[in-house]
Amino acid sequence: AEALKKTSTEIIKKLMSFGVMATVNNDVDFDTATIIAEEYGVKTEKAVQISEEDILFDDIEEEDESKLVPRPPVVVVMGHVDHGKTSLLDAIRSTHVIDSEAGGITQHIGAYMVKAKDRRITFLDTPGHEAFTAMRARGAQVTDIAILVVAADDGVMPQTIEAINHAKAANVSIIVAINKIDKPGANPDRVKQELTEHGIVAEEWGGDAIMVPVSAKKRENIDQLLEMVLLVADMLELKANPDRQAKGTIIEAKLDKERGPVATMLVQRGTLKAGDSIIAGSAFGRIKAMTNDKGTAIKSAGPSMPVEVLGMNEVPDAGEIFYAVTDEKVAKHLVEKRKYKQKEQQYKKSAKVSLEELYNQI
Ligand code: GTP
Ligand code: MG
Repeated sequence: AEALKKTSTEIIKKLMSFGVMATVNNDVDFDTATIIAEEYGVKTEKAVQISEEDILFDDIEEEDESKLVPRPPVVVVMGHVDHGKTSLLDAIRSTHVIDSEAGGITQHIGAYMVKAKDRRITFLDTPGHEAFTAMRARGAQVTDIAILVVAADDGVMPQTIEAINHAKAANVSIIVAINKIDKPGANPDRVKQELTEHGIVAEEWGGDAIMVPVSAKKRENIDQLLEMVLLVADMLELKANPDRQAKGTIIEAKLDKERGPVATMLVQRGTLKAGDSIIAGSAFGRIKAMTNDKGTAIKSAGPSMPVEVLGMNEVPDAGEIFYAVTDEKVAKHLVEKRKYKQKEQQYKKSAKVSLEELYNQI
């Protein structure tokens, strides 16, 4: 009715004359819409090339094995407060940054890509991160490997246990980094002992957990730790198809006063390109600018790459899955449909509740 500049009542009447009983809330299929439009001398054309079902099925659909290529591992660093997670990441980055020439202030995007033995590894910062919890809750397999940092002078603490549970629940491989071995009070064996009580037994004690004693401060055994990460990654045979529309997860997002919604995203499949239209939950938009973890503008990002993106219409929720879609029109259409469905469900729920209440009153 809107497109034809007619009232909905008139269109409903027109539909009835063709034997189609409809209300303003019903969808009519493309052929029906075409017949009605022709009545008013208007030609129709399919605006939506990809349906919501396409996106949903896209998820369930098996990947074409022949198109899968190896991708870098995504590693999250977790552990108790002050056990040295950030220091460890700093140590890794200072000796293994991909492009040390990138000048200016490093833009903090909460995720970093480093190079070790000519291979790339993606690290996610701030493990106790809200995003991490949201991801776990969704059961999304965002990370492949977890580095559990335990300070050798402090041992297993409440957040250490919490981190173990998170990793286990998400079926993520754990590598233990026993940190601060340079400290006088360091006791790596005590850490190993305490971890045993939580089902993590060191290889040298007959278990299958890889444990690397490190010192983030003295930069000791960092290479060894990275080697272990690559070893585990090899066993996992991580692969993705870079040659399709991108899909991934929102790591974090915020509203920037000048730049609008800014989202840090992890590409998990396909290649994300500047100019792509994307949806994430009820947010959508066209990528105006995309930067890597050094703040450098980039045109495209493949699997396992973290990027910062500008151009969403609102701040998406951390943990939300994003999809690249055909164009902005499609993005908008899908989001509107999602919102409509949500409202419909809410309405159904509240209607049911009030009926029950009514019944109880009788
Ligand atoms: P949260 O993010 O608050 O959970 O802490 P964190 O785990 O990131 O710890 P952070 O890296 O901030 O380190 C905490 C303190 O431990 C700092 O004062 C570090 O200098 C110190 N520290 C970290 N690693 C080492 C280490 O290997 N040896 C020694 N001696 N001190 C360390
Ligand atoms: Mg920290």
